[in-house]
Amino acid sequence: MTAVTVRVPAKVNVQLSVGGRRPDGFHDLATVFLAVGLYDQVTATPADGLRITAAGRDVAGIPLDATNLAARAAVALAKRYGVEPDVHLHIDKDIPVAGGMAGGSADAAGALVACDALWGLGAPRNELIALCAELGSDVPFSLVGGAALGTGRGEILTPLEVGGEFHWVFAVAEGGLSTPDVYRECDRLRRAGGGSDLAANLPAPAADPALVAALREGSAVALRAALSNDLQAASVGLRPALAGTLAAGLGAGALAALVSGSGPTCAFLLPSAAGAAALAATFPPGSAHPAVSPAPGATLL
Ligand code: C5P
Repeated sequence: MTAVTVRVPAKVNVQLSVGGRRPDGFHDLATVFLAVGLYDQVTATPADGLRITAAGRDVAGIPLDATNLAARAAVALAKRYGVEPDVHLHIDKDIPVAGGMAGGSADAAGALVACDALWGLGAPRNELIALCAELGSDVPFSLVGGAALGTGRGEILTPLEVGGEFHWVFAVAEGGLSTPDVYRECDRLRRAGGGSDLAANLPAPAADPALVAALREGSAVALRAALSNDLQAASVGLRPALAGTLAAGLGAGALAALVSGSGPTCAFLLPSAAGAAALAATFPPGSAHPAVSPAPGATLL
């Protein structure tokens, strides 16, 4: 094989319930991931050694060395199968970098699937998903797509049914937010409010049955009432301008507005594709992107 291209979706967390900080530093989660039709593409071609290149949106923010999560994915897969990680991975980015939409995770999942095919390994799907979980909490969902409940630190997935399409606009902020910083701020806010931030002292988070039902029904109106993100206060606290972005989208006709994951991308739910296109047009050119969910997971093109 000479070249393999894999398309991988972004995600929005329509529920992000954050429990306490565990002894390993991660937080217990009950999160509902929804894959959205904004995609990165990862192309793997044979090379002498491991090489990463990138093109597209925000590529200046992406490391092009061994620290890139896609590079780490290729190395982990090669090690597992006793082959050399000799591959050129080219990443075509459309997912915002450090935006709370799992762009880096998408690239890692894409790299795994692309290298598996290029190297003819035929890795079983559950093996790929286990490697994804070692690479990051969001990586397994990038591989499977659709909609899923994530528990543990987000890596333990239960697929969820989605009964219709949901229309979104994603407003991209200048500059990303670091996920660890946002979790740290969430912990700080909890302690400042007189509470504990430790898993031992907080109830385990759980899926919201109303939200799961809204997805199953494909009802945007029901989903609107059930959206939640426990990281939003921390994200807006670190980036106060987001409050204005969320309010602007609501004022311009969105059914609902929330920060996507750890942010700073803001997600707006709309009743229709036309509504999404109209809302996106109210933002500065290039800064807001309509997208439909659910979207499929990592797909060989
Ligand atoms: O798993 P991932 O590498 O994407 O996580 C990045 C960082 O986000 C972790 O190092 C941790 O600081 C934070 N995190 C967390 N709890 C989770 C997921 C991520 O505290 N469930």
